Amino acid sequence: MSLEELEKGLEEKIKDLFLNSVPRYYDHTMSVVSNMKKILERENLGEEGTVVLTTAAYLHDIGYAAPYGNDFVGNIEDQSVKIPTHCETGVEISERLLSELGFDEKTAARVVHLVSVHHGTPESDENLKLLLEADKV
Ligand SMILES: [Fe+2]
Ligand SMILES: [Fe+2]
Repeated sequence: MSLEELEKGLEEKIKDLFLNSVPRYYDHTMSVVSNMKKILERENLGEEGTVVLTTAAYLHDIGYAAPYGNDFVGNIEDQSVKIPTHCETGVEISERLLSELGFDEKTAARVVHLVSVHHGTPESDENLKLLLEADKV
C-alpha cells in the first residue's frame, strides 16, 4: 500500500474518533502531521522510517479520544492523570487501527512504541526526537 493510501485510511479513522470525542485534538493532530511532513523532507529516513513517523504523527494523541468515566481522556483536567492515560489508551487504539489498516507487525510495533513513549525524554531515540519536534504546536 502506498503512503498516500495509508494516510487516507489513517485520516478517516482518526477524524471519525476525534470528531465524536475531543474535536480540538483532530486539528492539533493535523498540524503535527503537517510539521512532520516538513521534517521528513529535511531528513532522509527511507521508506520504512517515513511510514513509521508519518503514522506516529497521526496516532500519537489518539488516546485522548478514549472514553473516561462519562467523558473522554482528552478532557481530564489533572495533567498527571491525563498524560500517562492517553499514552496507554493510545497504545490500545493504535494497535487496533493499525491492524484494521493492514500494517505489518514490525512497522505497527515501531509506531505503537512511539505512541507509548511520546511524552518521554528522547535520549538516543532519533525517531522520538523528530516526533517531539513535530508535536511542539
Ligand atoms: Fe500526547
Ligand atoms: Fe500532540
